[in-house]
Amino acid sequence: MKHENRIHFLTHKTHEWMLSFIIETADGKIIVIDGGTAGDAEHLLDNLKAVTGSDTPTVDVWFLTHPHLDHTGALIQLVSTDAPVIIKQIYHHFPSRQFLAKYDVNIGATHIDKFYPIRAKIADVLEFATQGDTYQVGEAKFDILYTHDASFTEEAYNDSSMVIRITLAGQKLLILADLAKSGGKKLLAMYGDELKSDFVQMSHHGQGGVRRDVYEAVAPKCCFWCATQQLWDNDVGLGFNTHGWKTIETRTWMEEMGVKHHFIIKDGDAHLTLPYDLD
Ligand SMILES: [Fe+2]
Repeated sequence: MKHENRIHFLTHKTHEWMLSFIIETADGKIIVIDGGTAGDAEHLLDNLKAVTGSDTPTVDVWFLTHPHLDHTGALIQLVSTDAPVIIKQIYHHFPSRQFLAKYDVNIGATHIDKFYPIRAKIADVLEFATQGDTYQVGEAKFDILYTHDASFTEEAYNDSSMVIRITLAGQKLLILADLAKSGGKKLLAMYGDELKSDFVQMSHHGQGGVRRDVYEAVAPKCCFWCATQQLWDNDVGLGFNTHGWKTIETRTWMEEMGVKHHFIIKDGDAHLTLPYDLD
């Protein structure tokens, strides 16, 4: 199987928002970021089969950004059903269930509790990644720029997001996951203009995540939006921009910053070969 340096940005297969990337390197390494909901597992597996040319694909490294089920559900589904996929390493940096139970007044520990039952099955490959770590996976470099800070309790799950910068084929992709205001502020204070990246995955599905100043430091040429049609238009049936989401605000920031390239999960899968022409 001939491999290329590619970003595979996968669409949603349920009505829910989700985040799922496959990173493929020219020297044949396969990395997954999150994977989406349980309902997205089959689509992810189909794509892994296609990318690897194998009915039992191998994932070299799987990063889980945080324990919300729109990020962890697919992995939980694949592992709990003994799906034909070989996973050599999983990195995460989840807060404790006690922390989430205490600070998330809506869902408490319910999402991380879905992850706990699979831990015995993945114990040999599960590792704790920490801010400051760097992982070289074939030609791709993964810098862990931020992990959970226990002083950020207001958005307990989202601000526990692992922020990952991927460098491949001379281009940089910043994964913000669902990072919220406090985490974004800290990220900017730590790195400033060093955040500059060619591609950015828009935090928290493109709304209500990090503030505009973070994106200005990133100065992306291309945005990945994990937004369904409803979320993209902030419209659940009553018309454009009539719901409570902030997507249009974020879209306006990107317009004003002159970003020309956008990929949105509502439009289906996107497969980009790197280096990607961003002019
Ligand atoms: Fe999410």
